[in-house]
Amino acid sequence: MSTARAHPNIALIKYWGKADDELMLPAAPSVSLTLDIFPTTTTARLAPTAQRDRLILNGREASDKALSRVERVLNVIREQAGRSEKLLVISDNEAPTGAGMASSASGFAALALAAATEYGMDVNTAHLSRLARRGSGSASRSVISGVALWHAGTDEESFAEEIPAPPLAMVSVVLNTAHKKITSREAMVTTRATSPYYRGWVESTRDMAAQMVEACKAGDMRCIGELTELSALRMHALIMSSEPPIHYLTSVSWRVFELARTLRGVGMDVYATADAGPNVVLLTRPELAAEVARHAEALGKVSIAHAGNGAYLVAEPES
Ligand code: DP6
Repeated sequence: MSTARAHPNIALIKYWGKADDELMLPAAPSVSLTLDIFPTTTTARLAPTAQRDRLILNGREASDKALSRVERVLNVIREQAGRSEKLLVISDNEAPTGAGMASSASGFAALALAAATEYGMDVNTAHLSRLARRGSGSASRSVISGVALWHAGTDEESFAEEIPAPPLAMVSVVLNTAHKKITSREAMVTTRATSPYYRGWVESTRDMAAQMVEACKAGDMRCIGELTELSALRMHALIMSSEPPIHYLTSVSWRVFELARTLRGVGMDVYATADAGPNVVLLTRPELAAEVARHAEALGKVSIAHAGNGAYLVAEPES
């Protein structure tokens, strides 16, 4: 039995669009911050007599769709490990329901580590990141502690690695909206196929990722923040330019972006970003996080997070 834990991450430079859907290769590099909240803990146990893998998610038998996604990753790991036994996978996510924090990144990062360990593989971080990528692109970054750069390129080249960065805080603002969600996976395909801006997005993301790495190295908070907000705005502009158009941000989301601008107007380093949904996350300095959270409280449910650890093995309690 092997147990691993991983946390969600928020992209500073967004990943939107694949160069290869099967290998899950991104069209451009991206940069993210792994958080210290809402971990997923996953246990993998060999089930030598089972015909199929089995997945228990938050105490319940998972849907066929969720199981198939997990099986795809497990098949890659089995092939590399030269093993054929199936697994029982038990995964628990600590994000409160409706917290708006996607669990697929933490989930696949924890799964890759638990399963590779259970099959006796000795994987380094880059290898683990490549395996997690096969489940969900952004999971490649949850393997890494703190700020991660996920490289585009070939199967071998496309993994995430830690880059030096100053201390950062994220204030997530979860909005109270009933939202029919188009998954990022589907929406990425529509965008690539229909938006005339897609090529421009890919090129500009390459540039922004390179600039972000330099800004992080230099500890330039203003540059990190401005690039973060610009990447989010460009991604949403791209998504809205799909045919049919896809809208993730609501009028309240835009008010959170406006709050960031207002706070910058009084000299605070606060920058907004948002993923494939209405919730907005405010990037700031750790010492400003509590004040930013107080300002955002009127717009949604706030939680504060800082840089968290990458995927790690959890010791079994001694029996
Ligand atoms: C908007 O990693 O969830 O959060 O690779 O298809 O599983 P798949 O997509 P996923 O997409 C994340 C998109 C995003 C931006 C980001 O995290 O970089």
